[in-house]
Amino acid sequence: MCGIVGYTGPRSTARVLLDGLKRLEYRGYDSAGAAVLTPERVEVVKALGKVRNLEAAARKKSEFMAATGAGIAHTRWATHGAPSVINAHPHLDNSGTFAVVHNGIIENFRELRSHLTSRGCKFVSETDSEAIAHLISECYEGDLVQAVAAAVKRLHGTYGLGVISSRHPGLLVAARKGSPIVIGIGKGENFIASDVAPLLSYTREVMYLDDGDLAVLTPDSVEVRNVENVPVEREVARIDWDADAAEKGNYAHFMLKEIYEQPETIANTIRGRIDRQLNSAVLSGLGLTPRELASVSRVVIAGCGSSMHAGMVGEYYFEDIAGIPAEVEQAAEFRYRNPIIEPDTLVLPISQSGETADTLAAVREARNKGALVAALCNVVGSTIAREAGRGIYLHAGPEISVASTKAFTSQITVLLLLALLMGRNRRLDSTDGARIADEIEQLPDLIRQVLDQAPVIEKIARRYARFEHFFFIGRGSLYPTALEGALKLKEISYVHAEGYHAAELKHGPIALLDENHPVIALANNIPGRDKMLGNIQECRARNSPVVALVTAGDAAVRDLAGDVIQIPACSRFAAPLPTVVALQLFAYYVAVERGCEVDQPRNLAKSVTVE
Ligand code: F6R
Repeated sequence: MCGIVGYTGPRSTARVLLDGLKRLEYRGYDSAGAAVLTPERVEVVKALGKVRNLEAAARKKSEFMAATGAGIAHTRWATHGAPSVINAHPHLDNSGTFAVVHNGIIENFRELRSHLTSRGCKFVSETDSEAIAHLISECYEGDLVQAVAAAVKRLHGTYGLGVISSRHPGLLVAARKGSPIVIGIGKGENFIASDVAPLLSYTREVMYLDDGDLAVLTPDSVEVRNVENVPVEREVARIDWDADAAEKGNYAHFMLKEIYEQPETIANTIRGRIDRQLNSAVLSGLGLTPRELASVSRVVIAGCGSSMHAGMVGEYYFEDIAGIPAEVEQAAEFRYRNPIIEPDTLVLPISQSGETADTLAAVREARNKGALVAALCNVVGSTIAREAGRGIYLHAGPEISVASTKAFTSQITVLLLLALLMGRNRRLDSTDGARIADEIEQLPDLIRQVLDQAPVIEKIARRYARFEHFFFIGRGSLYPTALEGALKLKEISYVHAEGYHAAELKHGPIALLDENHPVIALANNIPGRDKMLGNIQECRARNSPVVALVTAGDAAVRDLAGDVIQIPACSRFAAPLPTVVALQLFAYYVAVERGCEVDQPRNLAKSVTVE
């Protein structure tokens, strides 16, 4: 949730840190700070709000800007203590010798705080993280690495850490337990970060730390040690994303750019994955033989937020295409509900970031119960991808906007490919397989047709932007699509929006309908469409303004609804994708009209690494 950047090398440390923080802005944060080493001391700058505030404060300190050598920086998303300059990271020990940035939550922080206070430490912030700086100071006997190793042994909870000290000018120490740290390997310089985005302008060679790892970086070396303080080799991975992929280009917001990228990102998700001879899918990351795949008796999908909604669409695919019982678990419930998982259950955790704490916990629980686990992640080398051991990457490229768009459509595409593979592995014949493969290949074009209608959607959205309450209704696989449409709207425009199954409306929520409660009705021409007509009539009878998403040319619905957004004709399997793209655009334009911070909605973080 918070972001970390660290650097050691000959460049202007402040420049690398500030640029890196800007690339982490999408993670959601309330304050930021950085520490560099000057010949005399650790120099710290902090600011509330945006990185540009931090940059303005840093520019006033010439010593700070001129520093080279090791440095660390952080964007904070408050957990312990309100957003404030004092609570912003880096935190220092009382001698001002050690600076620490921390992601995660220290659960024994009260005990540590009272122990350290009894030893004379003065805490200046309300954070749990500050305790780490004091603890390192307490453990220090001339060796920074040994001090960090000793300190982290006393921490309960989760941490991703970056540490520097004025006593060790070129040295940067990182540690990880439960909160990701990735090392960027350069030439004569090295980096740490909480994800790869800040590293892309400098290097593509990265190394992911495992839980319990401690990394020691100088400009010329990277050494990783495990919990037992034994040096370990960690694989060096190469990142394909280029720095441009993480830039806004000519778009007003990352969200809009990512919405428009979808024809391309879906094409990337599909590329090389359709086998036209077998009319099936090729998903090599699954690492399951046809026999193993055929022995799967049940699919359980776990995820949070948009990823869970994608899973709910997938549930229809597995049952409809592959004839396999499927269910979706809210990942946070998965562990605590003690689900029934058998060895022939295939558990599919879905996570764009691959770092969501609840989804990771579900992976661990499923593995512990002996299930086959295959993760659907976007971020290559992320914790969930690595811990699951097998899976399918989305290949959607970096998703910077907090609101998920292109990852969501790629998740659905992967689920459709997997259902095709499992269907062909069972009862689905080659002709039906070929039809579904065709539909998958047409997805980018369907999305393009929706994007062409952006001006119409924008016009409608701007008119509806004054409303404070919305219902989104759908049936079949358009029911989870309605949930996703409502989530998009509420998270970026702060409008109250509820997704409902259209049939559920009559079981209570209809009481709310009136001229101030517009209904967005997903009435495409797929099974359930006729009943949707009835539902739209019910809404209109209560004076609710209705925007209907309809199959192009469907005059019957057009006459019922006040406003209409046309979705190209497509099958029930394809329909959620073009439909959700229209809803993403709708939410985007409502948010813009209401003057909201589209890419960084309040209170939200891109990657939710705490439970
Ligand atoms: C909504 C959104 C969130 C995420 C959820 C899971 O737009 O982005 O609901 O989908 O936090 O995140 P991942 O997919 O990274 O596990």
